[in-house]
Amino acid sequence: MKNIYLPKQVKVSEIKELSENVKLFRLDKKRVSFVPGQFVLIGVWGYGESPFGIASSPYEKSHIDIVVRNTGGNVTSALHNLKKNDEISVRGPYGNGFPLDFFEGKDLVMATGGCGIPPIASLVEYIIKNRNKFGNVYLLYGARTPEDILMKNEIKKWEKNISVILTIDKPHPNWDGHVGFVTDIISEIDVNPKRAVATMCGPGPMMNALEKVLRPLGISDRRIFVSMERKMQCGVGKCQHCAIGSKYVCTDGPVFNFDEIDKTWD
Ligand SMILES: Cc1cc2nc3c(=O)[nH]c(=O)nc-3n(C[C@H](O)[C@H](O)[C@H](O)COP(=O)(O)OP(=O)(O)OC[C@H]3O[C@@H](n4cnc5c(N)ncnc54)[C@H](O)[C@@H]3O)c2cc1C
Ligand code: FES
Repeated sequence: MKNIYLPKQVKVSEIKELSENVKLFRLDKKRVSFVPGQFVLIGVWGYGESPFGIASSPYEKSHIDIVVRNTGGNVTSALHNLKKNDEISVRGPYGNGFPLDFFEGKDLVMATGGCGIPPIASLVEYIIKNRNKFGNVYLLYGARTPEDILMKNEIKKWEKNISVILTIDKPHPNWDGHVGFVTDIISEIDVNPKRAVATMCGPGPMMNALEKVLRPLGISDRRIFVSMERKMQCGVGKCQHCAIGSKYVCTDGPVFNFDEIDKTWD
Protein backbone atom coordinates (compact mmCIF):
# COMPACT_ATOMS: atom_id res chain seq x y z
CA MET A 1 0.00 0.00 0.00
CA LYS A 2 1.31 3.48 -0.88
CA ASN A 3 2.41 5.50 2.18
CA ILE A 4 0.85 8.95 1.72
CA TYR A 5 3.18 10.49 4.31
CA LEU A 6 6.40 9.29 2.65
CA PRO A 7 8.44 12.30 1.47
CA LYS A 8 10.98 12.43 -1.38
CA GLN A 9 14.46 13.68 -0.72
CA VAL A 10 15.43 16.46 -3.16
CA LYS A 11 18.44 18.69 -3.71
CA VAL A 12 18.28 22.49 -3.45
CA SER A 13 19.95 23.47 -6.71
CA GLU A 14 19.71 27.25 -6.32
CA ILE A 15 18.95 29.80 -3.60
CA LYS A 16 18.16 33.45 -4.39
CA GLU A 17 17.67 36.23 -1.87
CA LEU A 18 14.54 38.13 -2.96
CA SER A 19 14.37 40.58 -0.04
CA GLU A 20 15.69 41.00 3.48
CA ASN A 21 13.71 38.00 4.84
CA VAL A 22 12.49 36.18 1.72
CA LYS A 23 14.40 33.59 -0.31
CA LEU A 24 13.58 31.56 -3.40
CA PHE A 25 14.61 27.89 -3.35
CA ARG A 26 14.90 25.92 -6.58
CA LEU A 27 14.34 22.22 -5.96
CA ASP A 28 15.49 19.51 -8.37
CA LYS A 29 12.26 17.66 -8.94
CA LYS A 30 11.68 15.89 -12.20
CA ARG A 31 8.36 15.06 -13.88
CA VAL A 32 6.32 16.85 -11.25
CA SER A 33 2.88 17.81 -12.41
CA PHE A 34 0.73 20.34 -10.53
CA VAL A 35 -2.01 22.92 -10.93
CA PRO A 36 -1.14 26.56 -10.06
CA GLY A 37 -2.34 27.21 -6.49
CA GLN A 38 -1.36 23.76 -5.18
CA PHE A 39 1.23 23.49 -2.39
CA VAL A 40 3.99 21.16 -1.23
CA LEU A 41 5.00 20.14 2.30
CA ILE A 42 8.68 20.87 2.74
CA GLY A 43 10.64 19.20 5.52
CA VAL A 44 14.03 20.03 6.95
CA TRP A 45 15.51 17.10 8.89
CA GLY A 46 15.27 17.77 12.64
CA TYR A 47 13.15 20.92 12.27
CA GLY A 48 9.76 19.80 10.91
CA GLU A 49 7.55 20.29 7.87
CA SER A 50 5.64 23.31 6.52
CA PRO A 51 3.40 24.02 3.51
CA PHE A 52 4.52 26.34 0.69
CA GLY A 53 2.83 27.32 -2.56
CA ILE A 54 4.62 26.37 -5.78
CA ALA A 55 5.92 29.53 -7.43
CA SER A 56 7.32 28.17 -10.72
CA SER A 57 5.62 27.50 -14.05
CA PRO A 58 3.54 24.31 -14.24
CA TYR A 59 5.22 23.77 -17.64
CA GLU A 60 8.67 23.56 -16.03
CA LYS A 61 9.48 19.85 -15.74
CA SER A 62 12.97 19.80 -14.21
CA HIS A 63 12.42 21.77 -11.00
CA ILE A 64 9.95 23.57 -8.75
CA ASP A 65 10.52 26.89 -6.98
CA ILE A 66 9.25 27.85 -3.55
CA VAL A 67 9.47 31.36 -2.08
CA VAL A 68 9.83 31.41 1.70
CA ARG A 69 9.42 34.27 4.15
CA ASN A 70 11.41 33.67 7.32
CA THR A 71 8.84 33.96 10.14
CA GLY A 72 11.51 33.23 12.75
CA GLY A 73 9.85 29.83 13.32
CA ASN A 74 11.55 26.42 13.16
CA VAL A 75 11.10 25.43 9.53
CA THR A 76 11.43 28.77 7.76
CA SER A 77 14.56 29.65 9.81
CA ALA A 78 16.10 26.25 8.98
CA LEU A 79 15.29 26.74 5.29
CA HIS A 80 16.92 30.17 5.32
CA ASN A 81 20.09 28.58 6.75
CA LEU A 82 20.35 26.04 3.90
CA LYS A 83 23.14 26.15 1.34
CA LYS A 84 23.14 25.19 -2.32
CA ASN A 85 23.16 21.38 -2.80
CA ASP A 86 21.72 20.70 0.68
CA GLU A 87 18.87 18.18 0.71
CA ILE A 88 15.33 18.60 2.02
CA SER A 89 12.18 16.50 1.87
CA VAL A 90 9.13 17.20 -0.28
CA ARG A 91 5.60 15.77 -0.11
CA GLY A 92 2.85 16.63 -2.54
CA PRO A 93 1.74 18.52 -4.58
CA TYR A 94 -1.42 18.74 -2.47
CA GLY A 95 -4.65 20.72 -2.52
CA ASN A 96 -6.94 21.77 -5.33
CA GLY A 97 -5.28 24.74 -7.10
CA PHE A 98 -7.09 27.43 -9.11
CA PRO A 99 -10.05 26.36 -11.31
CA LEU A 100 -8.28 27.00 -14.62
CA ASP A 101 -11.13 25.75 -16.82
CA PHE A 102 -13.55 28.17 -15.12
CA PHE A 103 -11.09 31.07 -15.66
CA GLU A 104 -10.86 30.44 -19.41
CA GLY A 105 -12.53 33.03 -21.64
CA LYS A 106 -12.79 35.53 -18.77
CA ASP A 107 -11.15 38.77 -17.64
CA LEU A 108 -9.01 38.12 -14.59
CA VAL A 109 -7.99 40.31 -11.64
CA MET A 110 -5.32 38.81 -9.40
CA ALA A 111 -4.85 40.80 -6.20
CA THR A 112 -2.03 39.99 -3.87
CA GLY A 113 0.21 41.51 -1.26
CA GLY A 114 3.33 40.77 0.71
CA CYS A 115 4.38 37.14 0.47
CA GLY A 116 1.12 36.12 -1.27
CA ILE A 117 2.86 36.21 -4.65
CA PRO A 118 4.22 32.58 -4.95
CA PRO A 119 1.04 30.73 -6.01
CA ILE A 120 0.06 33.71 -8.17
CA ALA A 121 3.44 33.56 -9.94
CA SER A 122 2.65 30.05 -11.08
CA LEU A 123 -0.84 31.10 -12.23
CA VAL A 124 0.62 34.04 -14.19
CA GLU A 125 3.08 31.71 -15.94
CA TYR A 126 0.18 29.43 -16.90
CA ILE A 127 -1.88 32.36 -18.25
CA ILE A 128 1.01 33.72 -20.30
CA LYS A 129 1.57 30.32 -21.88
CA ASN A 130 -2.15 30.22 -22.78
CA ARG A 131 -2.63 33.98 -23.28
CA ASN A 132 -5.21 33.71 -26.10
CA LYS A 133 -7.61 31.83 -23.79
CA PHE A 134 -8.04 34.83 -21.43
CA GLY A 135 -9.43 38.37 -21.74
CA ASN A 136 -7.94 41.38 -19.93
CA VAL A 137 -5.61 40.15 -17.19
CA TYR A 138 -4.43 42.29 -14.26
CA LEU A 139 -1.98 41.57 -11.49
CA LEU A 140 -2.36 44.03 -8.60
CA TYR A 141 0.53 43.62 -6.19
CA GLY A 142 1.16 45.63 -3.04
CA ALA A 143 4.31 45.62 -0.90
CA ARG A 144 5.53 47.59 2.09
CA THR A 145 8.54 49.17 0.37
CA PRO A 146 10.18 48.88 -3.11
CA GLU A 147 12.69 46.44 -1.58
CA ASP A 148 9.83 44.17 -0.48
CA ILE A 149 8.53 43.67 -4.03
CA LEU A 150 9.41 40.05 -4.77
CA MET A 151 10.18 38.40 -8.14
CA LYS A 152 11.12 41.70 -9.83
CA ASN A 153 12.79 39.99 -12.83
CA GLU A 154 9.73 37.82 -13.44
CA ILE A 155 7.44 40.86 -13.16
CA LYS A 156 9.42 42.64 -15.93
CA LYS A 157 8.80 39.62 -18.16
CA TRP A 158 5.11 39.31 -17.20
CA GLU A 159 4.46 42.99 -18.04
CA LYS A 160 4.90 42.19 -21.73
CA ASN A 161 1.79 39.98 -21.65
CA ILE A 162 -0.47 41.13 -18.83
CA SER A 163 -1.11 44.42 -16.97
CA VAL A 164 0.88 44.56 -13.76
CA ILE A 165 0.08 47.36 -11.31
CA LEU A 166 2.41 47.68 -8.34
CA THR A 167 1.95 49.80 -5.27
CA ILE A 168 3.87 50.40 -2.06
CA ASP A 169 2.37 51.36 1.30
CA LYS A 170 4.12 54.72 1.87
CA PRO A 171 6.09 57.25 -0.24
CA HIS A 172 9.70 56.18 -0.68
CA PRO A 173 12.71 58.00 -2.24
CA ASN A 174 13.39 55.08 -4.67
CA TRP A 175 9.82 54.89 -5.93
CA ASP A 176 7.84 56.99 -8.40
CA GLY A 177 4.96 54.53 -8.89
CA HIS A 178 1.65 54.11 -7.05
CA VAL A 179 1.54 54.68 -3.31
CA GLY A 180 -1.25 53.22 -1.15
CA PHE A 181 -2.86 49.86 -0.67
CA VAL A 182 -3.89 47.44 -3.40
CA THR A 183 -7.46 48.60 -2.82
CA ASP A 184 -6.45 52.11 -3.95
CA ILE A 185 -5.31 50.93 -7.40
CA ILE A 186 -8.36 48.88 -8.20
CA SER A 187 -9.86 51.90 -10.02
CA GLU A 188 -7.10 51.47 -12.66
CA ILE A 189 -8.56 48.26 -14.02
CA ASP A 190 -10.92 47.77 -16.92
CA VAL A 191 -12.85 44.49 -16.77
CA ASN A 192 -16.30 43.41 -17.80
CA PRO A 193 -17.91 42.34 -14.46
CA LYS A 194 -20.14 39.87 -16.28
CA ARG A 195 -17.15 37.91 -17.51
CA ALA A 196 -14.57 38.72 -14.83
CA VAL A 197 -13.09 36.53 -12.11
CA ALA A 198 -10.83 37.60 -9.25
CA THR A 199 -8.27 35.87 -7.07
CA MET A 200 -7.11 37.11 -3.67
CA CYS A 201 -4.06 35.97 -1.84
CA GLY A 202 -2.33 37.81 0.96
CA PRO A 203 -2.58 39.10 4.49
CA GLY A 204 -6.00 39.00 6.21
CA PRO A 205 -6.56 42.77 6.44
CA MET A 206 -5.90 43.11 2.70
CA MET A 207 -8.46 40.38 1.98
CA ASN A 208 -11.05 42.24 4.06
CA ALA A 209 -10.44 45.49 2.23
CA LEU A 210 -10.46 43.89 -1.21
CA GLU A 211 -13.73 42.20 -0.56
CA LYS A 212 -15.24 45.68 -0.17
CA VAL A 213 -13.76 46.76 -3.48
CA LEU A 214 -14.38 43.69 -5.66
CA ARG A 215 -18.07 43.53 -4.75
CA PRO A 216 -18.85 47.09 -5.93
CA LEU A 217 -17.02 46.29 -9.19
CA GLY A 218 -19.83 43.84 -9.76
CA ILE A 219 -17.71 40.67 -9.52
CA SER A 220 -19.97 38.25 -7.67
CA ASP A 221 -18.74 36.09 -4.75
CA ARG A 222 -19.07 33.03 -6.97
CA ARG A 223 -16.34 34.51 -9.16
CA ILE A 224 -13.92 35.47 -6.37
CA PHE A 225 -11.35 32.83 -5.36
CA VAL A 226 -9.29 33.07 -2.21
CA SER A 227 -6.11 31.16 -1.42
CA MET A 228 -6.11 30.45 2.33
CA GLU A 229 -3.24 29.76 4.73
CA ARG A 230 -3.63 27.69 7.88
CA LYS A 231 -1.25 25.71 10.09
CA MET A 232 -0.96 22.18 8.74
CA GLN A 233 0.35 18.81 9.79
CA CYS A 234 -0.66 15.85 7.63
CA GLY A 235 -1.54 17.79 4.45
CA VAL A 236 -3.91 15.04 3.36
CA GLY A 237 -7.16 15.53 5.30
CA LYS A 238 -6.46 13.27 8.32
CA CYS A 239 -5.39 15.41 11.31
CA GLN A 240 -7.92 18.31 11.26
CA HIS A 241 -5.21 20.89 11.99
CA CYS A 242 -6.18 23.05 9.03
CA ALA A 243 -9.96 23.01 9.49
CA ILE A 244 -12.02 26.12 8.75
CA GLY A 245 -15.53 25.19 9.82
CA SER A 246 -16.34 21.96 8.01
CA LYS A 247 -13.63 22.43 5.37
CA TYR A 248 -9.98 21.40 5.36
CA VAL A 249 -7.57 23.84 3.76
CA CYS A 250 -5.26 20.97 2.73
CA THR A 251 -7.80 18.95 0.76
CA ASP A 252 -10.85 21.20 0.08
CA GLY A 253 -8.51 24.17 -0.56
CA PRO A 254 -6.22 26.01 -0.34
CA VAL A 255 -8.26 27.80 -3.04
CA PHE A 256 -11.86 28.46 -1.98
CA ASN A 257 -14.77 30.10 -3.63
CA PHE A 258 -15.45 33.28 -1.67
CA ASP A 259 -19.00 32.22 -0.78
CA GLU A 260 -17.76 28.85 0.61
CA ILE A 261 -15.85 30.27 3.59
CA ASP A 262 -16.52 32.47 6.59
CA LYS A 263 -14.59 35.72 6.24
CA THR A 264 -12.61 35.68 9.46
CA TRP A 265 -8.98 36.05 8.45
CA ASP A 266 -6.00 35.30 10.74
C1 LIG B 1 -1.30 26.31 1.61
C2 LIG B 1 -0.23 27.19 2.19
C3 LIG B 1 0.70 27.78 1.36
C4 LIG B 1 1.71 28.59 1.90
N1 LIG B 1 2.61 29.15 1.05
C5 LIG B 1 3.61 29.89 1.54
C6 LIG B 1 4.60 30.43 0.65
O1 LIG B 1 4.55 30.22 -0.57
N2 LIG B 1 5.60 31.15 1.20
C7 LIG B 1 5.69 31.39 2.57
O2 LIG B 1 6.65 32.05 3.00
N3 LIG B 1 4.77 30.88 3.42
C8 LIG B 1 3.75 30.14 2.94
N4 LIG B 1 2.83 29.60 3.82
C9 LIG B 1 2.98 29.85 5.27
C10 LIG B 1 4.07 28.91 5.83
O3 LIG B 1 3.60 27.57 5.77
C11 LIG B 1 4.39 29.28 7.30
O4 LIG B 1 5.02 30.53 7.33
C12 LIG B 1 5.33 28.24 7.89
O5 LIG B 1 4.60 27.04 8.11
C13 LIG B 1 5.92 28.70 9.21
O6 LIG B 1 6.65 27.63 9.72
P1 LIG B 1 7.77 27.83 10.86
O7 LIG B 1 8.07 26.50 11.45
O8 LIG B 1 8.94 28.60 10.35
O9 LIG B 1 7.03 28.77 11.88
P2 LIG B 1 6.10 28.40 13.12
O10 LIG B 1 6.96 28.29 14.33
O11 LIG B 1 5.18 27.27 12.81
O12 LIG B 1 5.28 29.76 13.19
C14 LIG B 1 5.89 31.05 13.10
C15 LIG B 1 4.82 32.09 12.78
O13 LIG B 1 4.19 31.79 11.50
C16 LIG B 1 2.78 31.56 11.65
N5 LIG B 1 2.39 30.39 10.82
C17 LIG B 1 2.83 29.13 10.94
N6 LIG B 1 2.27 28.33 10.03
C18 LIG B 1 1.45 29.09 9.30
C19 LIG B 1 0.60 28.85 8.20
N7 LIG B 1 0.46 27.62 7.65
N8 LIG B 1 -0.08 29.88 7.68
C20 LIG B 1 0.03 31.10 8.20
N9 LIG B 1 0.84 31.43 9.24
C21 LIG B 1 1.53 30.43 9.78
C22 LIG B 1 2.60 31.23 13.13
O14 LIG B 1 1.30 31.57 13.57
C23 LIG B 1 3.66 32.09 13.80
O15 LIG B 1 3.24 33.42 13.95
C24 LIG B 1 1.79 28.80 3.31
C25 LIG B 1 0.86 28.20 4.15
C26 LIG B 1 -0.14 27.40 3.60
C27 LIG B 1 -1.13 26.75 4.50
S1 FES C 1 -3.33 19.35 7.56
FE1 FES C 1 -4.21 17.55 8.41
S2 FES C 1 -6.28 17.72 7.85
FE2 FES C 1 -5.36 19.37 6.81
